[in-house]
Amino acid sequence: MVDDVELNRELLRDMLENVYVVETAQDGQEALEKLEEHQTELAALLLDLRMPRLDGFAVIEEMKRKRWMERIPVLIISGEHGVEVENQCLELGVSDFIHKPFEGSVVKNRVKNVIELFRCKNQLERKVREQAERLERQHQIIEQQAEKLQEAKSFSRLMLEYQSAIMEVETRLKVLNAEFSQEYKRNPFEAIKSRLKSPESIYEKLDRKGYPVTMDSIREHLTDVAGLRVVCAFPDDIYRLAELLTRQDDIMVLRRKDYIKNPKDNGYRSLHLILSIPIFLPDGKKYVKVEVQFRTIAMDFWASVEHKLKYKKDVANAEEIVEQLKICADSIEDLDYQMQEIRNRIDNARD
Ligand code: GTP
Ligand code: MG
Repeated sequence: MVDDVELNRELLRDMLENVYVVETAQDGQEALEKLEEHQTELAALLLDLRMPRLDGFAVIEEMKRKRWMERIPVLIISGEHGVEVENQCLELGVSDFIHKPFEGSVVKNRVKNVIELFRCKNQLERKVREQAERLERQHQIIEQQAEKLQEAKSFSRLMLEYQSAIMEVETRLKVLNAEFSQEYKRNPFEAIKSRLKSPESIYEKLDRKGYPVTMDSIREHLTDVAGLRVVCAFPDDIYRLAELLTRQDDIMVLRRKDYIKNPKDNGYRSLHLILSIPIFLPDGKKYVKVEVQFRTIAMDFWASVEHKLKYKKDVANAEEIVEQLKICADSIEDLDYQMQEIRNRIDNARD
């Protein structure tokens, strides 16, 4: 309760003391100091307007600035103020007025009503705020889920493109096989194996290379999402088949690694092509990257055994095994060319 007239302070204190703990101040300045100290404990502020040092309006201004008005209801202890002043106070957010001369029960009831009303208002506001926050959170969750769903959809659509590209290359190779077998009475390849890179290893490879995990990034940076392995009986079939395939005028060769002419240090021999091949979708033509590995039957056998070593950690005598594998790879090459020569001799004898 803030009033510069001691008598007023005593009167009001008498009326309220048995219900509330009453703290008093005799001007605006002292009021602000006490407010600062007790602001969280205050149920209401009874405020005179005309006071020395700092008047009631200045107190209200400061309370507004510090956002205390939102927490503490203010009742003006008014003398003979006119309607204009009252309106001004109400506009500033004052809750009620206590007119002089003070009447005990009216004062108590007004103070009680204002406090209760304010508490209800604040509770309601808090509930609305909480509800709004909850709604906002739900909205965010729904948005995230929608995004994930969209991502999953575009991911499976992208995988479908790669799967289509695999089918496309496979079909073309099979057609070549059929034509070839008519002409030469034998098949240039024994088997085609294909695989779509798993989501885990797509993620792992992009992450390892420091690229973002997005659909565009998969398209741009990965060349082995669609993979085919063509297993041929003889080395020269590999080159013949690769040549026939890459000669097709809508296929682009993005990269060619000839590990047959230039074997890896471990002895690995295969011909690797990264192709860009068109597929036809409802929304038009699209070029998709495909990795094709050509190797001989014997080398395929070797690679599958060698692969086991690569993905097994802490193999005892690993160095010795590497050495042994290298020797095997070299004899496989030798064997492959010997078999090829035998085949040539048989073919020539047949003619
Ligand atoms: P990756 O990132 O592993 O695909 O290698 P890269 O981009 O350098 O291409 P590379 O043409 O060397 O290898 C492509 C694929 O060929 C590999 O993913 C393997 O499937 C296979 N490959 C390459 N080198 C070896 C090897 O030494 N041993 C075996 N078993 N397979 C190999
Ligand atoms: Mg690879």
